[in-house]
Amino acid sequence: MSTSNHVCLVLVSVSSMLLILPCLISASIAAQTHPRIKQKGCNLYQGKWVYDESYPLFDSSKCPSIRKEFDCLKYGRPDHQYLKYRWQPDGCDLPRFDGGDFLRRVKGKKIMFVGDSVSSNHWQSLVCLLSQHVPGSNISRVTSNTTSTVVFQNYGVSVTMFLSHYLVDIEQEQVGRVLKLDSIKDGEAWKQADVLIFNTWLWWYRSGPKQPWDYIENDGKIVKDMDRMDAFHKALTTWANWVNSEVNPSKTKVFFQGISPSHYNGTEWNEPGAKDCSRETAPLDGSTYPGGEPLAAEVVKQVLRSNISPSKPVHLLDITTLSQLRKDGHPSKYNAFAGMDCTHWCLAGVPDTWNQLLYVELLQGR
Ligand SMILES: *[C@@H]1O[C@H](CO)[C@@H](O)[C@H](O)[C@H]1NC(C)=O
Ligand SMILES: *[C@@H]1O[C@H](CO)[C@@H](O)[C@H](O)[C@H]1NC(C)=O
Ligand SMILES: *[C@@H]1O[C@H](CO)[C@@H](O)[C@H](O)[C@H]1NC(C)=O
Repeated sequence: MSTSNHVCLVLVSVSSMLLILPCLISASIAAQTHPRIKQKGCNLYQGKWVYDESYPLFDSSKCPSIRKEFDCLKYGRPDHQYLKYRWQPDGCDLPRFDGGDFLRRVKGKKIMFVGDSVSSNHWQSLVCLLSQHVPGSNISRVTSNTTSTVVFQNYGVSVTMFLSHYLVDIEQEQVGRVLKLDSIKDGEAWKQADVLIFNTWLWWYRSGPKQPWDYIENDGKIVKDMDRMDAFHKALTTWANWVNSEVNPSKTKVFFQGISPSHYNGTEWNEPGAKDCSRETAPLDGSTYPGGEPLAAEVVKQVLRSNISPSKPVHLLDITTLSQLRKDGHPSKYNAFAGMDCTHWCLAGVPDTWNQLLYVELLQGR
């Protein structure tokens, strides 16, 4: 089954609000100002990468405080071609990212990314895009234990990163640190936002010293461990229940950022010898990834389809396949740690496209 069919199936069944389906671009007031995205039936997530000399969308050397993990040029990446690709949906063109327009549309609003370091990657891309597309804007930064916020003061827009590796809670108890699959306590802070973009996946298979919990609590029982995909599914279900009971859809628009793929297994992209992304300098041609979609992406779609109430639409930013094609987009060894990283993404780079897609989704829905 193609990805496009899948997305449409998922969202048709969770929502009667056909007009704001991500897979159907319909004529809305917003779209009239962007005639190129008016075509009906265009799946934004089905397409290919094309070389575009006008890219990247921002200059990383002018974006302050890009995390050391993502600043590939600063840490010596010699090939620059990876910066030059634009996502081209099959049925329509994406509008070019317009930071001023973006900020005007979300004037006075709070945008919050909630998730792991991939969310941070996504957040930093948006901050860089907005900062550089709106010259002279007055920007302030506030950091606390779990959040980093950038405020675009002239527009009253805040863009926050809320770090939550699992979305559900980890609590210190007598037995040790417990990952509580049935509990979300951070939600009070999330509810204040007008646009929420969630993500969790990266940490679900952590084990050994890097695993930040000792036990899992599931249905009131404490266990040492369990099937990790089941645990992920359970936590997403808890998150879906949180959305159903706590989100006010007339205030808050909710997105789920699809699974961001890693590239450590060349068999998936027809280079059986490759054990990482270190020699990758170009995307895969075409629209399909030989390795197929990861199981986790299926789990996400299943939860959005089955567990989200129709009155609480959650829009999937279905970035998995388009990012799978970008085996060239990771930092590889060009980061401050010189470790091989084929999980995160260089900035500028692939997450800029995720934000272009977020921008289009906001154009459609507001
Ligand atoms: C930026 O913000 C500062 C402090 O809030 C203010 O003094 C200054 O006038 C602002 N500048 C612009 C260009 O809005
Ligand atoms: C930050 O974390 C510390 C230690 O966990 C805690 O005592 C403090 O209240 C937290 N601050 C905020 C603003 O949440
Ligand atoms: C790499 O991917 C292939 C195809 O998906 C799979 O059969 C194989 O087990 C994977 N290898 C490793 C080491 O994960």
